[in-house]
Order: sequence, then C-alpha cells, then structure tokens
Amino acid sequence: MSRPVESGEPSLYARLGGADALRPIIHDFVQAMVQDMMIGFFFRDVDPVQLERREFQFTARFLGADIPYEGRSIRTAHAPHPIMGGQFDRRRKILEEAIDAHGVPADIKAAWLAHVDLLRPQVTREGAGQCD
Ligand code: HEM
Repeated sequence: MSRPVESGEPSLYARLGGADALRPIIHDFVQAMVQDMMIGFFFRDVDPVQLERREFQFTARFLGADIPYEGRSIRTAHAPHPIMGGQFDRRRKILEEAIDAHGVPADIKAAWLAHVDLLRPQVTREGAGQCD
C-alpha cells in the first residue's frame, strides 16, 4: 500500500490532483489568453502547444511537482514583449477565471496568484495600476 511521504504534508500539486487536474486548467487558461481581446495579440507568433506545455511545467513545479521546466526564465521570455501593467492584470484575471471554473481549493488558488504577483517585476516594469 502506498502512504504519504514521511517528510511532511502532500504538495499543493498532489492536493490539486496532479497532472490530471492541472492540465485542463492550463489548457483552458492558455486558450482564453491567446483568444483574449486585450492581450491575445501578444501570442500571434507563439506556438500555443509549446506555450501550454511550458506554462504547465512552470506551474506544476511551483506547486511542488518534480518535473523539468523546458522554458526560458520568466524575465528572458518576456523581455522582448513590452507588457504594460494593465495587460499583466488581464492575464492574472484570465488565470483566476480558469482556476475558479475548475474548483481549485481556496488556499491553492491564493498561493498560485501570490506567486504570479511575486513575478510581476520580471514581466513588466510597471507596478499595479501604473500606466507610464
Ligand atoms: C507572472 C506572470 C506570467 C507567467 C508566470 C508567465 C509564464 C510564461 C511561460 C512559462 C512562458 C513560456 C516561456 C518560454 O517559452 O520559454 C511564457 C511565454 C510568454 N508569455 Fe508569459 N507569463 C506571465 C505573464 C505574461 C503576460 C502578462 C503576458 C502578456 C500580456 C505574457 C505573454 C507571454 C508571451 C507573448 C510569451 C511567449 C514568449 C515568446 O516566445 O517570445 N506573459 N509565459
């Protein structure tokens, strides 16, 4: 019989339900993002399959999965794109909607969005609500 690892609590990833639970959330999120009226244009020349794979890996690792991340650093990947504060907020909102649609537990949602907010300075030089 399997039993929880002895070194403490199960990861957020395990509690969410692992890859089977995370994949459809990331899928819906990426689809909504690339089709979005406000920020979809950023992804015109981006391969959505690769983007989805890397968004999945990146998020899974943050949630505690022991899998490799094949993408660039967040700062390097976004440096060529002039992303404004409002556009960052729009992505965050689309992600929140995907998280809510899949019934993610409140504490996992909170940790996930807090991680997104922590990464904000690596994606845009604009603070929350700043426009220039
Ligand atoms: C904390 C927030 C964000 C996270 C965690 C994140 C995560 C990622 C990841 C993992 C990739 C793949 C990197 C790679 O292929 O090497 C990526 C690519 C990309 N992201 Fe984000 N992203 C964030 C915010 C944003 C925002 C706000 C926008 C635009 C509104 C955006 C637009 C893009 C674009 C256009 C790419 C493709 C980059 C390229 O191939 O040139 N991202 N993002």
